[in-house]
Amino acid sequence: MRTHNIALLPGDGIGPEVIDAAMLVLEAAAARFDFALKTQRYDWSCQTYLDTGRMMPADGIERLQTHDCILLGAVGWPAKVADSVSLHGLLLPIRKQFDLYVNMRPHRLLAGVDGPLRAKDFDILCIRENTEGEYSGAGGRVHQGTKAEVAVETAIFTRHGVERILRYAFEKARQRSGRLASVSKSNAQKHSMVFWDEVAEEVAADFPDVRMTRYHVDALAARMVTHPETLDVVVASNLFGDILTDLGAAIQGGLGFAASANLNPAGGGPSMFEPVHGSAPDIAGRGLANPAASIWAGAMMLEHLGEVAAAEGVIAALEATTAAGQTVTPDCGGEASTWEMAEAVAQAIR
Ligand code: NAD
Ligand code: IPM
Ligand code: MN
Repeated sequence: MRTHNIALLPGDGIGPEVIDAAMLVLEAAAARFDFALKTQRYDWSCQTYLDTGRMMPADGIERLQTHDCILLGAVGWPAKVADSVSLHGLLLPIRKQFDLYVNMRPHRLLAGVDGPLRAKDFDILCIRENTEGEYSGAGGRVHQGTKAEVAVETAIFTRHGVERILRYAFEKARQRSGRLASVSKSNAQKHSMVFWDEVAEEVAADFPDVRMTRYHVDALAARMVTHPETLDVVVASNLFGDILTDLGAAIQGGLGFAASANLNPAGGGPSMFEPVHGSAPDIAGRGLANPAASIWAGAMMLEHLGEVAAAEGVIAALEATTAAGQTVTPDCGGEASTWEMAEAVAQAIR
């Protein structure tokens, strides 16, 4: 039997709740579609940091390297551990070390989910650069604590990094509607974003069948709200993509719905799948978290593993559940718990 070797990183807050929910559904899909998931759970979290002084063991990356894929819940417990420590000790190093330079985030309404907009018929695929740009970590602070204090955060954009994410986005656009929105802010940022626009025009010459439109990020944000149906593939830098995909989550019904795949199309290490949302300390431990995002991320993982029929089965079961509207969590207007909603999705698969 086909067996896929998955690392589970539940993390903090609602992370363990939504990962347990996703695994309930993925196990149902494995049974129904005849494959096996061999999982290894790594309980690396802010508690690990408090206990050991590290978010993950020194050989954490080597251990993850042995798996086909990583399924991650969420990282961060800001009341106990600074985000600058927790995220830079676990999530961000995984993206960087495995060179997961594509962060792919779909935004559309699942059946039965209304969303806050008048426009309902949108299907946006955001391709976020995931390893450099505003997240490079370069910079520092001087004269700390004085009136002369200065903090510098240097965004680093390499030709290698910009070109490869644009090429990936053009390929995706070619497979979909042939439309690509390239996001920058070259009216204000005259080095990195002018460079981004130049590389976008160069790459566009290799894709005459794709119609690229350049947008400034502020205008694109407005367009996602006023005319989301005019967008298809959207490509953006690390920070702009981060912000636009929480906006994408909002228009698809909330953070409980948005899923993501962190990919290195060149291969060589595990890809990572996760909901877009964080650890949601405000609702953690109460069964209130919507598991749709983590279930959808699980479906993206199955597709990546070649289990295409199972991935489609998971999305169909998720949509059957949201369309029925009975067994859904409070953020989608229901009264079900995280586990009850996942159980309804698993039942629809069985
Ligand atoms: P968040 O995404 O955790 O929460 C924002 C809001 O959305 C909250 O009101 C929360 O209750 C709600 N929400 C999130 N997921 C939900 C779900 N599945 N169902 C229903 N409601 C949901 O963002 P935040 O509050 O800014 O961050 C909390 C912590 O998570 C911080 O430490 C942050 O750095 C971290 N974070 C981690 C990741 C990640 O690991 N990928 C992503 C984002 C934020
Ligand atoms: C996300 C998150 C992370 C990011 C944070 C937690 C570092 O917001 O995955 O969208 O900014 O990439
Ligand atoms: Mn984010």
